Amino acid sequence: MLVKLANGKELPVEMHKARMVQKIRLIPAEDRLKAIQEAGYNTFLLRTKDVYLDMLTDSGVNSMSDNQYAALMNADDAYAGSQTFYDFADAVKDVLGYEHVMNVHQGRAAEHLLSKVFGKPGGVTITNYHFTTTKAHIELTSQSVCLELYADEALKTKSQHPFKGNMDIQKLKDAIKKWGREKVGFVRMEATTNLLGGQPFSMENLKEVRKICDQNGLMLILDGSLLTENAYFIWKREKGYANKTIAEIVKEMAAQADIYYMSGRKNTCVRGGMIATNNKALFGQLEPWLPVYEGFFTYGGMSMREIGAMGVGLREMVDPAVAGSSCEQIKYFVETLDGMGIPVVTPPGGLACHIDARKFAPNLAKEGYIAGAVVAALYIVSGVRAMERGTISMDRDKDGNDVYADLELARIAIPRRVYTISHIEYIIDRLQWLHKNRELIKGLKFVSEPPVLRFFLGKLDALDQWSRKLCDAFKKDFGGDW
Ligand code: F0G
Repeated sequence: MLVKLANGKELPVEMHKARMVQKIRLIPAEDRLKAIQEAGYNTFLLRTKDVYLDMLTDSGVNSMSDNQYAALMNADDAYAGSQTFYDFADAVKDVLGYEHVMNVHQGRAAEHLLSKVFGKPGGVTITNYHFTTTKAHIELTSQSVCLELYADEALKTKSQHPFKGNMDIQKLKDAIKKWGREKVGFVRMEATTNLLGGQPFSMENLKEVRKICDQNGLMLILDGSLLTENAYFIWKREKGYANKTIAEIVKEMAAQADIYYMSGRKNTCVRGGMIATNNKALFGQLEPWLPVYEGFFTYGGMSMREIGAMGVGLREMVDPAVAGSSCEQIKYFVETLDGMGIPVVTPPGGLACHIDARKFAPNLAKEGYIAGAVVAALYIVSGVRAMERGTISMDRDKDGNDVYADLELARIAIPRRVYTISHIEYIIDRLQWLHKNRELIKGLKFVSEPPVLRFFLGKLDALDQWSRKLCDAFKKDFGGDW
């Protein structure tokens, strides 16, 4: 919850208390340098024993509630027909309003099934913006083009626009005309658009997209992996929604979609996912493939325990204290950095504080994987593990050339209900130091590189041994390894 302080500022205060804790450790700067070198300057390849604050992602690393832990214990383990699944289905109906639901092992498994069944080979799949795994399935599984119809404002990192995740309606009309509606697999709206810096779309925009889909007989699929953050921003920012509850906004959003899917690893704080709909015929098209790729229909590749916890997580995620838990820390984080002149994506979104790496390290050439270099540098000076969301996260084109990302973002994710404001203050301090010493950051080059989703396993090296020099400068200024 945001509380007003006597000085007029807002402070995000946690609406939960820690009843179980995990010890974390901060290793010396010298060891951090060694760890990032061994990880090939890829933070995915670091080990958690070498990470102080794990801000790689908000996926699968959130704190569950006491009631979710209770649900783990109460779950009924059965291969088929578990009551836990039916209780989960009741939660889906109550919270999202869908009659039919299937679990899948995580979000990309839903993308796989949807692309397989509804994708149009040789055609196009339309979205407000891609996510890495979504694009991979659109291209590999459905052999179609991933068309991103974001508004121009979306790529302006410094902005006041409250809904940079909106789809551009004119572009949507033009694309349908150009491709012909029979070539369009589906239209996908991603809530709190991940790779644009966690930026939401408005309810008005979602309803306009719905209207165009209706006019053209197209299916609208909602990726609700970050649904409640989008609902939170509609509540805070969109005219006419301030007096509605998050629960009502979530239902209204869900009602626009023909098919809804989500990674459960974010909003519901468990490892899993789901696909839901009110359209029995569409559900029937997906159903036969579930046991082939995921599992029997009452478990879909998840453990019953996590399905139980997911049902509780669904009911809890619409509580404003839960929906706003990371958004409010991100607001504090982003606004503090912005006030210091450190380039961040504004307005603050969901999921993470995103550093605009192109502006943070303007001396770096685009060939040097700017966001990757900034993320590696941040780890060396802080032990904080962030994630590159830039050109490394784009795979090469068919001729082997780099595809330069629209945005070079260093993503410092905020897992839900895990870290405190003093952790964030620590990162702010180290970022401030790094920004002052940004001339020391140079580029990276690939040493080994897988052909698909290269950001997961690719290894790189630092040009001109800049990481050594950065580590030395840090140790000199701080009088030691911390
Ligand atoms: N859709 C969105 C919007 C996502 O953010 C993610 C995952 C997925 C789909 C895929 O879900 O991981 O359960 O298979 N985002 C994670 C991240 C990986 O770190 O942002 P998944």
